[in-house]
Amino acid sequence: MAIVITIDGPAGAGKTTTARGVADELGYHYLDTGALYRGFAVIALRAGIDDAASPALLDALRGVAVEAYWDENGMRVRVDGEDVTGELRRPAVTKLVSPLSAIPEFRDRLMPVQRAAADLGGLVVDGRDTGSVVFPNADLKIFLVADVHERALRRSRELAAAGVEHDVKDVQREIAERDARDSGRKVAPLVFPDGGIRIDTTGLSIGDQIARIVALARERGA
Ligand code: DC
Repeated sequence: MAIVITIDGPAGAGKTTTARGVADELGYHYLDTGALYRGFAVIALRAGIDDAASPALLDALRGVAVEAYWDENGMRVRVDGEDVTGELRRPAVTKLVSPLSAIPEFRDRLMPVQRAAADLGGLVVDGRDTGSVVFPNADLKIFLVADVHERALRRSRELAAAGVEHDVKDVQREIAERDARDSGRKVAPLVFPDGGIRIDTTGLSIGDQIARIVALARERGA
């Protein structure tokens, strides 16, 4: 049976790597919802807007269509037909996307884009509100958490691998700030989903996280 699995949690808890691994193991599609929000941020930056409070932001993104599609390497993001996947992880995008994602209009516009992915069959989704708002009837809802220091070390390793110069202390501060913003905001705050299962990944290997979630998915008919 094809089921929907949501994986939510704060930045750096290992959602993306875990979700991708679970999807591979089950032969499911993987939907990275943060990447869709990042698609909007890429276009805003191209229009010279790096502040989500800018009055020009809504205009710059009016009518802009963000969509997910899949090739043999997994999910990709297209904006108005152009593949922008390579730009999604730029630090300027990471900075702008957090306040941008708190704007209701962008959340509303991405809702049908996210829900449409369930038509593909089995789906693993990751984000912040995928178990609580986007797929409240998901068959399995995981909430991943990890100690902030461990999350900073993980992100630091990713940045180093991508050749981005950085200071771990700055990374940890930014993650803590992003947590506070994502949890404290009025619109779609990061919340534990009804019926969710909490997994603390501090000290767990990615392989362990994936195996645990796959086992839970199998119990639910995946
Ligand atoms: O997971 P990520 O770092 O790619 O997410 C980018 C931003 O988008 C993050 O600051 C929170 C926001 N986001 C969200 O509000 N809702 C989601 N479902 C996914 C991401």
